[in-house]
Amino acid sequence: MVKISKEDLSLHNLKKLIKKEFNETDKLIKNQINSDVNRIPKLSKHIIDLGGKRLRPMLTISCAKMLKIRNKNHIKLAAAVELLHTATLLHDDVVDESIYRRGEKTSHTLWDNKSSILVGDFLLGKAFQLMVKTNSIECLNILSKAAAIIAEGEVLQLVETNNVSIKEINYIKIIESKTAALFSSACEVGGIVSGANKSQRKNLFNFGKNLGTAFQLKDDALDYDGSSNKMGKNNGDDFYDGKVTLPIILAMKNASKKEKDFLKKTFNKKVRNKTDLEIAKKIIRDKDTINQTLKLANRYGEKAKYIMRDFENNPIRNALIDLVDFSLIRNH
Ligand code: IPE
Ligand code: IPE
Ligand code: MG
Ligand code: MG
Repeated sequence: MVKISKEDLSLHNLKKLIKKEFNETDKLIKNQINSDVNRIPKLSKHIIDLGGKRLRPMLTISCAKMLKIRNKNHIKLAAAVELLHTATLLHDDVVDESIYRRGEKTSHTLWDNKSSILVGDFLLGKAFQLMVKTNSIECLNILSKAAAIIAEGEVLQLVETNNVSIKEINYIKIIESKTAALFSSACEVGGIVSGANKSQRKNLFNFGKNLGTAFQLKDDALDYDGSSNKMGKNNGDDFYDGKVTLPIILAMKNASKKEKDFLKKTFNKKVRNKTDLEIAKKIIRDKDTINQTLKLANRYGEKAKYIMRDFENNPIRNALIDLVDFSLIRNH
C-alpha cells in the first residue's frame, strides 16, 4: 500500500477540487516566458519547471471558486501572482546569495546575478500585463501595492542584517511585508473577481495575512531545524547570511551573558562558519526557541482558520482550512 504522508494529505482535497483551474494556470504561466532573447525563456524555465508548491495561485483560484466564478480572470490573476512570486525569488536568491532553491542550483549560480535580476524584472512586467488583462483596477491596485510592500520588507530586512537586538515587533513587520503581503493579496483578488462583498474581502485579506505570517515563521524554524534535502534549500541559510529571525531573537531574550556575547559577536562577523552554526543551534535548543517559534506560527494559523469559518461551509473552504495545516506541518 502506498503511504500518504499527513503533509500530502492536507493538500490532497484542495488539489483535487481545483485541478482544472490549476492546470490552466500552469499553462498560462509557462506561456508568459516566451521571448526572442533566448536567455529569458531558458532561465525562467529553469525556476518555473522546478515547480515549487504553487501555494499562492492555489489561494487565488480557491478564494475565487469558493464564491461565484464569473469568467477567467481568476486564472489570469493566479498566474500573475505566481509570476510575481517567481520574480521575487530570483531577486531574493541574489540578495541572500542562496545556492539552492527547489532542490536545484539557483539561477544566479547557473547564469549570473545580472541575468537573474533582469529576468526577474521581465517576469514582473509579465505579471502586471496579466493583471491589466483582467480590466480590474482594484486588483491592479492591490497587487501593485503588494509588490511595493514586498520590496519594502526585503529592504527593511537588509537594513536589519546582523542586528541581534532587533525587536520582535520589527521582525514581524518584515515577514508581514516580504511574505504575508502576497498571501493576503492573492486571496483578496481571488475574492474580488468573484464579486466578494466588503466584509468577505476583508476576511480573505486577513486570512491570507495570518496564513502568510504563519508560513514564514515555519520557514524560519525550518531554516534551523529542517533537512536541506526535503526543503530543497540550504539549511542554515539565514544564519550564514546574518539574517536574524525569531529563533535567534527569542534565544537572545533568555541567553546568559556569555551566550548573548557569542551571538552578538558572531552575527557581526563578515562570515559565519559551520562551528558557529552548531553553537547557535545548541543555544536555540537549550532555550527551546524552535518550539516557541512554531507555537507563534500556530497562533497565526489558528487565526487564519477562525476567519475562514465565517464563510459558508463548503468543500473548498474546508480545503483552505487544511492548507493552513499544511503550511504548519510542511517539511519543504
Ligand atoms: C519561498 O516560498 C519564499 C518564502 C516566503 C519562504 P515557497 O516556500 O512558497 O516557495 P516555492 O514556490 O514553493 O518554491
Ligand atoms: C522570502 O524570503 C520572501 C521573498 C522571497 C520575497 P526568504 O529569503 O526568507 O525565503 P527563502 O528562504 O529564500 O525561500
Ligand atoms: Mg532567501
Ligand atoms: Mg530573503
